[in-house]
Amino acid sequence: MAEQSSSLTAPVAQSELNGLLSLLEGCGISRCAQLITDFRIADALGDAPATVAEVAAKAGVNAEALLRVMRYAVTFGVFEDAGSGRFRHTTRSRLLRSDHPQSLQGYVRLVGPTWPLFEQLDHSLKTGRPAVEALAAGGVWEWLSAHPHLAKVFDEAMTSKSRGDVAALLTAYDFSQYRSFADIGGGQGHLLRAVLDNVPDATGTLFDQPIVVDSVRDRLGNRMSAVGGDFFKDALPRAEAYLLMQVIHDWDDEHAVSILRQVRSAAPPRGKVLLIEVLLPQPPQPGSESAQPTWPAFLDFAMLAWSVGQERTRGTYEKLLAASGWRLERVVPTGGFQSILEATQM
Ligand SMILES: C[S@@+](CC[C@H](N)C(=O)[O-])C[C@H]1O[C@@H](n2cnc3c(N)ncnc32)[C@H](O)[C@@H]1O
Repeated sequence: MAEQSSSLTAPVAQSELNGLLSLLEGCGISRCAQLITDFRIADALGDAPATVAEVAAKAGVNAEALLRVMRYAVTFGVFEDAGSGRFRHTTRSRLLRSDHPQSLQGYVRLVGPTWPLFEQLDHSLKTGRPAVEALAAGGVWEWLSAHPHLAKVFDEAMTSKSRGDVAALLTAYDFSQYRSFADIGGGQGHLLRAVLDNVPDATGTLFDQPIVVDSVRDRLGNRMSAVGGDFFKDALPRAEAYLLMQVIHDWDDEHAVSILRQVRSAAPPRGKVLLIEVLLPQPPQPGSESAQPTWPAFLDFAMLAWSVGQERTRGTYEKLLAASGWRLERVVPTGGFQSILEATQM
């Protein structure tokens, strides 16, 4: 909100006080969504409206406590009060079911176990370094590999988050112009699998850390292969199109350029790179914050906790690409928060 008063300490409207208080409940919203996910509350509510007692009995939880959880969830659009003490599903609550094709359960599950990173953000503010380094000097990948249960939650969160993203990507971009793909830092291969399903005569190679790739070797299918390695050191697979979804945002400029150069060395002369990233608005527009979506700025804030990475503007990605031998040709919006930055070789 633009400042209205000429004095820094003059009284402000009650609505502004209320607005700030409401923002502070962000952690409550996250925790509430996580409880609904962990206890499969959305799974316990069927197509027809049901009482809290019925949902509680199915989920095996305390009905009085559940009433308070669901009543709060209604305030942010998860469930709806159907009257007579019953609740019904909304579009948002359906996304917290395990059987929804775009289920966000896996992503919501990341919130609790990774909260310790947010607790360390004072370390970031004092030092400018990622919060995760207060827990693991080697950063997020070291932290995750030291805690295999967290690594599993993380990989499943990436897969879960991508379900919605991938549907939007497939609609926004014509992947059928390529015959071969390499998904670098592709996690469990969810993007590559979806692209190959859409381009039936293409093949693809998933490249990620050995521990990640090994966890999906039995789910590859006949047109997809997998290579475990380190994208800073190891040779990358050759392909017409390189997919890097939310990989560059994990790294500072120096590491980002190093990954993009590795891709450049592996690519054939007409090979393309497709960065799939959330873009910060460009240029920064003073006073226009209410019109901007909050998610890109939130992700950028979260990256301060998670890694040396950050979210970037289109212009910053263009510079990183140029420094690694790639020319940004176009940016394709997807309708979601992600954009596709398509680059060719210089
Ligand atoms: C934020 S995740 C993105 C996963 C996937 N592209 C997506 O969007 O769902 C970053 C990925 O980079 C991988 N990664 C991190 N460091 C790596 C390295 N040195 N070599 C190969 N992969 C790495 C991680 O294992 C992880 O799967």
